[in-house]
Amino acid sequence: MTSKITINLTDSRKVKPKEESLAFGRHFTDHMFITDYVKGIGWQNSRIVPYAPITLDPAAIVFHYGQTVFEGLKAYRAKDNSIRLFRPEENFKRLNRSLDRLCMPQIDEIDALESLLELLKVEQDWVPTLEGTSLYIRPFVIATEAFLGVAPATTYQFYIILSPVGSYYEEGIHPIKILVENEFVRAVKGGTGSAKTAGNYASALKAQETASAQGYSQVMWLDGIERKYIEEVGSMNIFFKIDGEVITPEINGSILEGITRKSIIELLAHWGTPVTERKVSMEELALAHASGKLEEVFGTGTAAVISPVGELNWNGTIMNVNEGITGELSKKLYDTLTKIQLGDETDSLNWVTELSSSYVNM
Ligand code: COI
Repeated sequence: MTSKITINLTDSRKVKPKEESLAFGRHFTDHMFITDYVKGIGWQNSRIVPYAPITLDPAAIVFHYGQTVFEGLKAYRAKDNSIRLFRPEENFKRLNRSLDRLCMPQIDEIDALESLLELLKVEQDWVPTLEGTSLYIRPFVIATEAFLGVAPATTYQFYIILSPVGSYYEEGIHPIKILVENEFVRAVKGGTGSAKTAGNYASALKAQETASAQGYSQVMWLDGIERKYIEEVGSMNIFFKIDGEVITPEINGSILEGITRKSIIELLAHWGTPVTERKVSMEELALAHASGKLEEVFGTGTAAVISPVGELNWNGTIMNVNEGITGELSKKLYDTLTKIQLGDETDSLNWVTELSSSYVNM
């Protein structure tokens, strides 16, 4: 795919936003990576070019039938000024799983990582330094063929864009409030729930809008058949600590296989606290809450990191969690994960890829 990447640098660099006021996904760097796919030929013409709007045929399949998938990962600035990526190979593996589900061509995972490192080498000054900030990386693939028949496209483009970010939620690392969604569903088994594809997010907007109007940051999705079992939250996977046991909904084909989710399960196992992956019903959660056994609830995600949940609303029944205060385990996981990402704690699970110092000093 990227045996040779051509680089065309911009001659008008943007003014960088103030790090203190960075929100999520509002600013974009000076350059982006693009490569093209043509059926029968494969990926070609890999290039780093100035960040700019793109031109597509109005009949491009992505606009009509939603053939598009994406990823999300972050580059962090360590105290020694090095730039670190958290498990990037996992993102490109998942991108390939999503591509397969949407009948889109596979990428070469090693080439994709090399392309990302090249782009970061060009954009290294954009990795912010302030605590709680990072450079969010958004790889995505779109179907570009102009055709109104419903069929997999024969041409695609793979992009990587970069965005300096602060916290995803306005609450920062303070507990958020979640509304349990009873009307709409996010995904069903056999659907596209486990793929990171645009349609999953578009179909979630309606519920999200209703939740926001009631003062809730996110919705918690239940299974699409019985509306009984907890699946995930808008932009993250969900964990519960009930009577000392850490539990998360099992991967079932409709839940997104989060990389932070997987990392938290591995980290807790490393600490000798195995996580139970199983079905969790809302009834079970409500009972645990009523009997005082629901100790902590937290979400996990690249954008969200570890996000404590302070309140759940299920059909009007309000469940306060840990008096709305961040729990000990949520705090310990947040601190450990961010320290590993920033190089402040030994990376004993070998999760971090450092941008080589030859890149950083160029
Ligand atoms: C991420 O955590 O990277 C995500 O993709 C969630 C996103 C929809 C903001």
